[in-house]
Amino acid sequence: MARIPLSIVKIGGKSAENNELISALADELRALQDRCHRILLIHGGGITISEIQDKYGIKPRFVDGLRQTAPAEMPMVDMALSGAVNKRLVRLLRIRDLNAWGLCGADAGILKAESVTGSAEKNRTGKVESLDTHPFEILWDNGYTPVFAPPATDSLGRGININADEAALSLSAAFKADQLIFISDVPGVLDDSRIIRHLTPEIAEEKIESGVITGGMIPKVRSAVGALDKGVGAVFIGNYSNPGDLGGILSGKLGTLINSGGLK
Ligand SMILES: Nc1ncnc2c1ncn2[C@@H]1O[C@H](COP(=O)(O)OP(=O)(O)OP(=O)(O)O)[C@@H](O)[C@H]1O
Ligand SMILES: [Mg+2]
Repeated sequence: MARIPLSIVKIGGKSAENNELISALADELRALQDRCHRILLIHGGGITISEIQDKYGIKPRFVDGLRQTAPAEMPMVDMALSGAVNKRLVRLLRIRDLNAWGLCGADAGILKAESVTGSAEKNRTGKVESLDTHPFEILWDNGYTPVFAPPATDSLGRGININADEAALSLSAAFKADQLIFISDVPGVLDDSRIIRHLTPEIAEEKIESGVITGGMIPKVRSAVGALDKGVGAVFIGNYSNPGDLGGILSGKLGTLINSGGLK
């Protein structure tokens, strides 16, 4: 049987907050599905986590763009990602006729992770150790579109927060996805407010070293490079500010293409 192409779309930043644009994105995803693509939508939701933290008087902390999660903050991460953002996206996609099924890394044991410090008693910021792709196959085979939030589980059953870009890397590598698209709140990787239309892994690392790429763009670009390394066909970074932008990104009119060759 011919292999069905897989597009993994990771959405985050302000793009994940705008309901009208999510509806437009849903229409584009459905059109891809109608052309016989499998879709896996992964989302972050840093803005919502920070809003919930703020209600508890907690200030977000980041190291190289990676949110630091103390054990007491893990329920807020679950609340924001596995709860509020995931359910809002599922509801919006479903009324646009996408058969969305929301789930997180903990569900069906999809993502196994460990604390980056090796000590989950103190730090729930994690990295993926292993993953099970089978639940996604079950959903696709039965006509569902998975909508995935990253919160994972460690070997002792504790909640671990995984950066959504890193979750997208792990899943796209496991599936050897045909394309991985990062939709954020910037129109691509920027250098002095100009879009870098094409990045190679070498230039990407240089731009991180020289401080052009900072904050949340660091895990995103490193995940993009990691995905290429693991055999993912093509990786794009862009935003979604108008209906049709996904098509624009995939056709190379918008955003940043990351690969080791040249622009197509
Ligand atoms: N060179 C750069 N080009 C573009 N954005 C950059 C650059 N350097 C730093 N950034 C920052 O990276 C941010 C994107 O990462 P961020 O983690 O905030 O969003 P996201 O990953 O899309 O969302 P989430 O973390 O909620 O999944 C941009 O909003 C911008 O502030
Ligand atoms: Mg991010």
